[in-house]
Amino acid sequence: ETAEKDGFDHFMLKEIYEQPRAYRETISNRINHQLNTVDLSQEINLTEDYIKSIDKIHIVACGTAYHAGLVGKYVIEQLTRIPVEVDVASEYRYRNPIITPNTLVMVISQSGETADTLAALRESQRNGAKVLAITNVNGSSVSREADEVLLTHAGPEIAVASTKAYTSQLVAIYLFGLYLSQVRETHEDAAIAKYIQAIKELPAQAEKLLEFAPIIKQFAERFAKHEDLFFIGRSLDFAVSLEGSLKLKEISYIHSEAYPAGELKHGTLALITDGIPVIALATQEDIYEKMVSNIIEVKARNAYVLGIALEGDTELAKSVDEVITIPKTLPLLTPALSVIPLQLLAYYAALARGNDVDKPRNLAKSVTVE
Ligand code: G6P
Repeated sequence: ETAEKDGFDHFMLKEIYEQPRAYRETISNRINHQLNTVDLSQEINLTEDYIKSIDKIHIVACGTAYHAGLVGKYVIEQLTRIPVEVDVASEYRYRNPIITPNTLVMVISQSGETADTLAALRESQRNGAKVLAITNVNGSSVSREADEVLLTHAGPEIAVASTKAYTSQLVAIYLFGLYLSQVRETHEDAAIAKYIQAIKELPAQAEKLLEFAPIIKQFAERFAKHEDLFFIGRSLDFAVSLEGSLKLKEISYIHSEAYPAGELKHGTLALITDGIPVIALATQEDIYEKMVSNIIEVKARNAYVLGIALEGDTELAKSVDEVITIPKTLPLLTPALSVIPLQLLAYYAALARGNDVDKPRNLAKSVTVE
């Protein structure tokens, strides 16, 4: 087992560091570099007529994969203007969702064996929808039963807390969203090319971000002493906050909540007291000012705020206690980078608390029973 960890103390840390490679492999062979387009035609057999007939998309998944789906909603809606709903599979399968032959159901599952996700897939097919699976395991139940499969090439993920599988799912979603956009002609070629260029830069940017691990470790050690912590963000930053909060809960056992920053006044603000740690993501340019006002609200209650900002942001430091910056990319792509410091925070907080990072109590890597 030690050998498989390649010198890392835990599988989770190794898998966090494997993300640049997982990006490269998930992108590889799916981009036409001459045309600057996404080409999934070798893997996905959806006709142009079918793609043009999709009138809504349901994304269904559990756990971390569900959080990737939440990012997927923003991404696919922005790229294609197709309405997207996201459900946790255990809800979807029992809520009698409105599925028609023009509904594309996307299931996301690292293992491809999660019982609820598989049941949701079957329920969707029974209702006449096509199912596209994003999964990391070729030959898994989900990959065998889905109509179409888009594999993530993260490699085996051993740690219970998912890291490289999540970020690879994001890359698969970006590629699929762009592919739909190309077929439905919702964006100019130049806009698509810009996305592709930015996606190609993600692996090197992720590598650069990992160099900040020692700084993040210091923050984590400070946060590890607390029993409650909050994540706030808006739009894509909120979706990433949910994943950051889940990571922290899973392995550090610190109670944490992710809140859409605009909702603070409707509840969470009552819990913001002296010194409570708040991690505030502010990477989305279009709602940046709103986010800063929310940060000022928690600072006014004496929260200790760690901000996550884009490189070059000199403003945020004025409103928060500490800042971590992520390399600049297109707004839709920021989750693929902003989640990395949050993964490291969870890892180092769990370590500081002496927990079993790779095998947290009560949790399993794959939930194959209901
Ligand atoms: C478990 C794992 C999570 C994972 C979830 C869904 O809860 O601990 O890391 O996100 O199952 O698993 P899947 O294999 O379907 O992505």
